[in-house]
Order: sequence, then structure tokens, then C-alpha cells
Amino acid sequence: MDPDFRIGEVAPRLYGSFIEHIGRAVYGGIYEPEHPTADDLGFRGDVLELVRELRVPIVRYPGGNFVSGYDWEDGVGPKEERPRRLDLAWRTVETNRVGTDEFAAWARRAGADVMMAVNLGTRGVDAARNLVEYCNHPSGSRYSDLRRAHGVERPHGFKVWCLGNEMDGPWQIGQKTAEEYGRLASEAAKAMKWVDPSIELVACGSSNSSMPTFTEWERTVLEHTYDHVEYVSLHTYYRNPEDDLATFLARSLDMDEFIKAVISTCDFVRAKKRSKKTINLAFDEWNVWYHSLAADRELQPWSVAPPQGEDVYTFEDALVVGCMLITLLKHADRIKIACLAQLVNVIAPIMTQTGGPAWRQTIFWPFLHASAYGRGTALNLVVESPRYDNYEFGEVPLLETVATLNDEDGSLTLFAVNRDQELPLSLEGDLRSFVGYEVVEHLVLEHENPKATNTAEHPNSVAPHRGGDAAVLMSGELTALLPKLSWNVIRLSRPSTG
Ligand code: AHR
Repeated sequence: MDPDFRIGEVAPRLYGSFIEHIGRAVYGGIYEPEHPTADDLGFRGDVLELVRELRVPIVRYPGGNFVSGYDWEDGVGPKEERPRRLDLAWRTVETNRVGTDEFAAWARRAGADVMMAVNLGTRGVDAARNLVEYCNHPSGSRYSDLRRAHGVERPHGFKVWCLGNEMDGPWQIGQKTAEEYGRLASEAAKAMKWVDPSIELVACGSSNSSMPTFTEWERTVLEHTYDHVEYVSLHTYYRNPEDDLATFLARSLDMDEFIKAVISTCDFVRAKKRSKKTINLAFDEWNVWYHSLAADRELQPWSVAPPQGEDVYTFEDALVVGCMLITLLKHADRIKIACLAQLVNVIAPIMTQTGGPAWRQTIFWPFLHASAYGRGTALNLVVESPRYDNYEFGEVPLLETVATLNDEDGSLTLFAVNRDQELPLSLEGDLRSFVGYEVVEHLVLEHENPKATNTAEHPNSVAPHRGGDAAVLMSGELTALLPKLSWNVIRLSRPSTG
């Protein structure tokens, strides 16, 4: 490790998340006026506390697939006048009890900014520019005065806006070709920035890297939008349906390839345009998602807030999430926004029972650790690791790792996953460039059962402990034994100068 081997500054927005109008994410998740912990606006206090613990700086809203059929006007103004609408994306009934103004209030209480998405599925330039006016214009115009009439005096000032969602997907309401979307996104972007020039915009990349048009989509969309947007989006979800842990744990290598391909495509368009501008990446949906897919197919349509997407995460899922976090950090120079999808109940680190408790899922822990300690500058480690053979990924390193250096207090954090299912891995780190550094703590997330979960009855079955054995030797070598199948956070402090 060396402080000069810098990947880039870790954008605080790397630890963003996502709340969509789907399942019990909003109703029964963040919002439940009848809940014993509900505040004056009907938000669950227990959920807010857990969200604050995660220090999520930005939350994407209101979708997701949902946004492609959403009329934002339905969700503002007096609640009793708001319509019940069919949501075609998730085949539910949307009551509109929560809309833009309520979500902005919730986000403020959670200590987060809102990353707002506009509907480019069924709607277009007009609805998008009006929503920016409603949210960000101070007063003296139709939509800013409408907001004020709704009791919201000061503009929300949302900084980051998504130009639609997964517009290449056949499942999307109003799916588009890259040409159609590129033109529409470019025109919407211009109008939105004419309303508020300070906003930053995210163009939709491919829905995932297996889409047949992957990279061609990005190229075409960016050729249309390059001058008007700051980011292109990436989405990915991993699964382990065949119960093949060795392959599942290697999926972050796929994420790494995905990121590199999108960076190359952005830079190809930059070169082609002879532009001086760099487009950054917004990895605004990422997670493990598969446990709930079969149950979701059994749900009856047109109910309000059904239990959709309620993955109960295992310990092995937490390791994959850990590897994905490390992968994001390894690209901190270009990924300036990332959103763990999602935040509450639906494929989420936080789970609730409607009317009951809220608890931390297994994946809560690596996210919490990265968000708490993975700030500052990401460091490019020179890593040698034993490998295992995998039919899909070839040679997979047993050690997945990255480090971050906190520029304010000089503290250094090493994040490491041991993918070995049988044996601990002996870590030897060259710390000679960090003279006098000492281990503050070595957090470990491990479990003898890869399928272990946290539930309402047993919320702490999978939880980290501080019993790791990391130490710095006189020679300047960092040593630690990383238990088999484990997520590790080794925190070091610089020597005090007094
Ligand atoms: O996060 C759940 C869904 O996954 C989102 O609505 C969509 O964008 C993606 O396909």
C-alpha cells in the first residue's frame, strides 16, 4: 500500500440508495402513520434511525420501473384529493399517499439528498421541465407557486436527476430504441437545465450488461446527450439460483468488466466528439436479487403495497455485496454515484414488519462499514493472491480487497473478502509507506452457515465482531488471518504527532 497509489476521491454519493414505489418500500417501509414509532408526518422512526445509521447521502426516487408510468402531479397537494392509480410496472394500486413533497421531507429527516427521476416512458419534455420547476424554482411561476400553495415555501433544490429508467427494457412502460431515447433525453435535459442550470443529469445506460444492445445503446445515447448530461447509469443484480457459491462470489468480477466497458464507451464518444468533458458513472441500481422472484410470481395483481421483492438475505449474499462495494471503490475515479437497490423491505438492507419491528439484514453490515469508513481517497493496492478455478470466470482471486485513506484524519481502512470456502487466508501487507500506523480494530463478518439470515425473531444471527487479529509488526508489515468466507474491515490510525 502506498498513499501515492491513488485511484481517486471517493464521492460521498457512492453510498447512495434507492426507494421506489414498489411493494412495501414506501407503505409499511418508510411510511406507516399507524406505527408506534411514527412521527408527525407518518414516517417510521425505527426505520429512519436505521437509515441514518447507514449514512446514506442520496436516495433515488420514485423509481425504477414505476417512474415510467408515473404522473408526478398525482402525488402532490391535498392527500384526500389524490387519485388511486394502477401501477402497470408492478401491477399494484398506488394510493399516492406519499409523493414528491413527502419524500423530500423524509429524506431531510434521513439526512439524505433526493436523486429524482423523471418519467420518459409515458411522458416527456413537458412533464420533466414542470417537475423541475415545481421542485427547484423559488416562486413566481405556475409550478413553483403550486408547490408553495401546497405548503412548501422553499424549493427542494434537488441536484441530481435521472432521465427516465431502463428505457431499453421490454418490461419498461414506453420502452424506446437508443435513437428514440437519446433524442428525447437530450431534449428533456436541455429544458430541465433551462429551468435550473445547476442540476446534474443521469442518462440511462443499458438495463444490464446482458442486454443485446449493451454498449451500442450507451454509444448512441451518449452521442445524443453528451453535452447535456453528467452521468450514464449502470444497473446490475446478481443471483445464486444453482447454489454455486464459488461462481456467486466471483460475480463482482463481472461487475468490474461491466464498469470498464461503460468507461471505455463513454471515452470513445468523448474521443469521437473531440470533447474535453468526461462523463462519469452512476451505478444507480446494484445488489443481490433472486430469493423473492418465485414468490412474487404468485402475488395477485392490483393490491396496495404487497410483499414484493422481499429477499431475505443470507450471509453469503453479504459477502457478494462486500465484493461489489470493493469493486465500486476500485473505480472511485469514475463512479461518482452509486445506489444500493433498494433501502427498505424491497431487496433491502433494512426489513420491517408492518405494525412490527425493523431490523438489519445481513447485507446491512458491509454497506454500513463501507459507508462509515470507506471515505476519502481510494488506494490502488498491488495485490498478489492465490486463485481458484471457475468454469465461468477462469482464475478467481481468493482475496478481494481495496483500501481507503481518509484525507482529514489520515486513517487508513482496508476492506477485504476471503472467498475461500474451506480455509483462512493469511494476509501480509506492506505498510512501510505508512510509518507508525497502528491497528484500531479488525471487524469481521463471518458465519459457519453461508445460508444464515437475520429475521424479526433473530435479528442478530449475522453480525460483525471485533475479534480479528490484524497487527502491524516492527518491520512495517500488516498481518491478519482472514477467516474462511469472511468480510473484514481493518482500520488503522496514523501515529499522533504530540
Ligand atoms: O429495483 C427494482 C427494479 O429493478 C427497478 O424498478 C428497475 O429499474 C430494475 O429493473
